[in-house]
Amino acid sequence: MTKPQIWVATVLVLFFALYILEISTKRTDEQEKPAATTAMGQQSSSQISADQPPEKLVASLGCTGCHGGDLTGTAMAPSLHSIKPNWSRQRLINFLRNPESYMSSSRFKELRAKYPNEIMPSFSNIDVKVLGKVADYLISLKK
Ligand code: HEC
Repeated sequence: MTKPQIWVATVLVLFFALYILEISTKRTDEQEKPAATTAMGQQSSSQISADQPPEKLVASLGCTGCHGGDLTGTAMAPSLHSIKPNWSRQRLINFLRNPESYMSSSRFKELRAKYPNEIMPSFSNIDVKVLGKVADYLISLKK
């Protein structure tokens, strides 16, 4: 081969190598995507543990995203302060696991009407111990 031929061959090989590299990285991107785009909570449920302080749990579970950083409510979702009269620890855990089953009460019909753009998601994939800690924390909030 002449010198120019060697150059052309080298460049072609390089392009081919880059192409292969691109394809292989794209594949791994696609494989990782489903995990990153699953519903809130699911994605990080493995890192959420009942050893963490409740303030951190409500942030990592995404509660603060709708109910506000201090959980005093936003235009999307109601305040979670002073909910004690309406909830026991056990009912609250059940609610977090399956909010749909509470939606037919008149209080929830009002809440649904007041916050029509968001709906309280289910956290059934989260460890019950974690939900118990969150429930204790919510019951303790007063404002
Ligand atoms: C996507 C927004 C959103 C997220 C995230 C969210 N909520 Fe809610 N939550 C709502 C809405 C909206 C309501 C009012 C009922 C409805 O419209 O579904 C509600 C209602 C509630 C209620 C009932 C309030 C009452 O007055 O009895 C509790 C308790 C509650 N959420 C706790 C939580 C906790 C704890 C988390 C996190 C684990 C959380 N929410 C995450 C939107 C959200």
